[in-house]
Amino acid sequence: MSGADDWFPVRVAAKVRDGQDVFLFDLADPAGAPLPTFPPGAHIDVAVGELTRQYSLYSAPAQGTCYSIAVQREAEGRGGSRALCDGVVVGDTLRIRRPRALFALADDATSHVMIAGGIGITPLLSMASHLAGNVSVTLHYLVRRRERAALLDAAAQAVGQGNLHLHVTAETGRPDLASLIGPPAPGRHLYLCGPAALLDAATATAEGLGWPANHIHLERFAAEPVANAGANRPFLLRLRSTGAVIPVMADQTAAEALAAAKVELPISCAEGVCGACITGVLDGTPDHRDCVLTDAEHAGNRLFTPCCSRAHSEMLVLDL
Ligand code: FES
Repeated sequence: MSGADDWFPVRVAAKVRDGQDVFLFDLADPAGAPLPTFPPGAHIDVAVGELTRQYSLYSAPAQGTCYSIAVQREAEGRGGSRALCDGVVVGDTLRIRRPRALFALADDATSHVMIAGGIGITPLLSMASHLAGNVSVTLHYLVRRRERAALLDAAAQAVGQGNLHLHVTAETGRPDLASLIGPPAPGRHLYLCGPAALLDAATATAEGLGWPANHIHLERFAAEPVANAGANRPFLLRLRSTGAVIPVMADQTAAEALAAAKVELPISCAEGVCGACITGVLDGTPDHRDCVLTDAEHAGNRLFTPCCSRAHSEMLVLDL
C-alpha cells in the first residue's frame, strides 16, 4: 500500500526514439541526487495531466542515478502515451511514484526463460541486466514487425547475443510456444510480459507442459475480462477509523464510493493491474476482480482492490 508521500519530481534527462513509436526516457533527480533503489521488474507510476500511467523500469537496478522507461505511443490509447511522447521534452519535470515491484525474480531460480511481447521487453530487460550472466537466461522477444523492436541492443548486451531470440511474427508467424518454453525442471522459472493473448497462450502452454504455477511469473498490460461483470449488486463499506458506513451502488466502484465520501485512495490503473489501491480488509468477503493479488491473497480475503473488486458479503470492513 502506498500514499501521497510516495510521489516525487524527476527531471527528463534524455528522450530518444527507439523503434517505431517507442520513446525512451531517462528520469533523474532534479538536483542530481541518487534515486530510490528498486528491484528488477519494478514499475513506476507517472502522472500525465489528470492521468496516471504505469511504466516498467528497464534500467538495471544497480544504476542509481536515473530511471529509464520506454513508452510506446498508442495512437488509439487513452492519451497518456501521446502526452508523454508528443508533449514532454528534455528538461521538463514529471511527477512519479516510488518504484513498486509486483513482478519479481524467483530467488531460488537457476535458469530463467523469458518471453516478451513488444514493449513487454522492459521489465524483463531490467531482470536480465540484474542477473548479468550469473545464471542461465534465455530471452525470446516477439514483435510484429522488425522496426517495432525497441531496446534490441540493450537486450543483446544483457543476456548475450546467443541467448536473445528475436521472433518477427509478420515474417515467420508466431513461434511454437511449447518449443520456446520447453519442459519444466527444478530451478527453472518462466517470466512472461506482453499482450494478454500472448500471456494467456504461453501460460496455457506451460501448464500443459507440466510447469508448476509457482514457476510461472507474468505481468499483464491490462486487466483480464471479469467473468461475472454485469452482475454487480450494491454492498456496504465500513471504515475502521471512523465507523462510517458507505454504500456502494451497483453502478459504481468501491473506489468511486469512497471518493464521493471524501476518503482518498491512491488510484492508478483503475482496473486491478497495478496494486496502487490495495487496502486491508478486517471483516467480510471480497469479490476479487483484480489480477494483481496472488491466489493466496485472494483466498485469504485480507486484502482488496477497491478500484475494481466488489463484495460477496453485505459489508466489508476496511482498514481505513
Ligand atoms: S488502482 Fe491499480 S489495482 Fe487498483
